[in-house]
Amino acid sequence: MSDVWGQNLKISLFGESHGEGIGVVIDGVPSGLKIDMDFIKSEMARRAPGKNKLSTKRKEADEPRILSGVFNGTTTGAAICAVIENTDTKSKDYSELKKKMRPGHSDYAAYLKYVGFNDYRGGGHFSGRITAPIVFAGAVAKQLLAQKGIRICSWIKSIEDIEDVSLDKINVDEVLMDAVQGSDFPVLTKELGEKMQERIVEASMDCDSLGGVVQCAAINIPGGIGSPFFRSVESVLASILFSVPAVKGVEFGEGFNISKLRGSQANDEMYYDADGNVKTYTNNNGGLTGGITNGMPITFNVAIKPTPSISKEQRTIDIEAKENTTLVIHGRHDPCIVHRVIPVIESVTAIALAELIL
Ligand SMILES: Cc1cc2nc3c(=O)[nH]c(=O)nc-3n(C[C@H](O)[C@H](O)[C@H](O)COP(=O)(O)O)c2cc1C
Repeated sequence: MSDVWGQNLKISLFGESHGEGIGVVIDGVPSGLKIDMDFIKSEMARRAPGKNKLSTKRKEADEPRILSGVFNGTTTGAAICAVIENTDTKSKDYSELKKKMRPGHSDYAAYLKYVGFNDYRGGGHFSGRITAPIVFAGAVAKQLLAQKGIRICSWIKSIEDIEDVSLDKINVDEVLMDAVQGSDFPVLTKELGEKMQERIVEASMDCDSLGGVVQCAAINIPGGIGSPFFRSVESVLASILFSVPAVKGVEFGEGFNISKLRGSQANDEMYYDADGNVKTYTNNNGGLTGGITNGMPITFNVAIKPTPSISKEQRTIDIEAKENTTLVIHGRHDPCIVHRVIPVIESVTAIALAELIL
């Protein structure tokens, strides 16, 4: 398994959902960065499970313990290693899943690759739980970026077919950022958020799950970051966004919709503002042209699939008996991943931007 990402800010993940613990090694954080542990803990709490009926009932404190790289509250320049203990595992729930493959989950693909040696309990190393150490690394990267005034924020754009308004891609409102970041179910329109939550509860009562779209914006990004081809900002961001389990699509700016516009509509026309800064009247390119930041906010959408583990009966295979069978999944699962993945999307975005800036 290769779970190392990055060149300048290298992160390496370890652990399994039902093992002793999970964690991350972060290599490349410069010395002298003051680490705000309260901020890190608040970020971890935003992702932690067991908070409400919209999330898995698994309860984890997600307390990170830093083993290296931070001394007297400041980074030393050496690799930072953080571990998080697993405390609420119920592996019995998973005994049937050793042989019956969950449709839509990694079980069968992992069986093919690791010939049955992978830890299948709770999805093992494929579990959404491994995103907790990603949030730890993201919280460190956010503190690096905050020194340059860079801020990242994500919220729910849609759940199933319930669609919220899109953000103003030119003037991303910091007050709005503060408001959504403090919410367990961040949306731009409160009433639509309530409808979305009702829909998730309905789906869960029907033993089913739902997907949706997360929207993300990064602001105060200096122009000129990135490269034309393989290290374009889109490539670096997409490579880490697609590493997040359940992400099935990423689109920058107007994304797929830009293909329906004419050049005269799609082009972001330019001007100097009163302070002499270069701005664009629209931001259909999501702040990125030629693979390089152009000074406008970076904006993108991320498609999240419905949680694969559902308790509705589904057809599958038994790899021990080598026969067709059916499966009803027991155990504790998120009826929807979208609201839980929000801090994870922000974190990988922070890691990618730090990688490009360092
Ligand atoms: C925060 C988070 C929580 C998740 N929770 C669950 C869950 O409770 N049950 C489940 O089947 N999948 C869950 N997933 C998704 C699976 O990990 C993922 O679908 C699976 O590994 C297959 O990978 P893929 O969807 O990228 O193809 C979660 C993902 C994330 C990011």
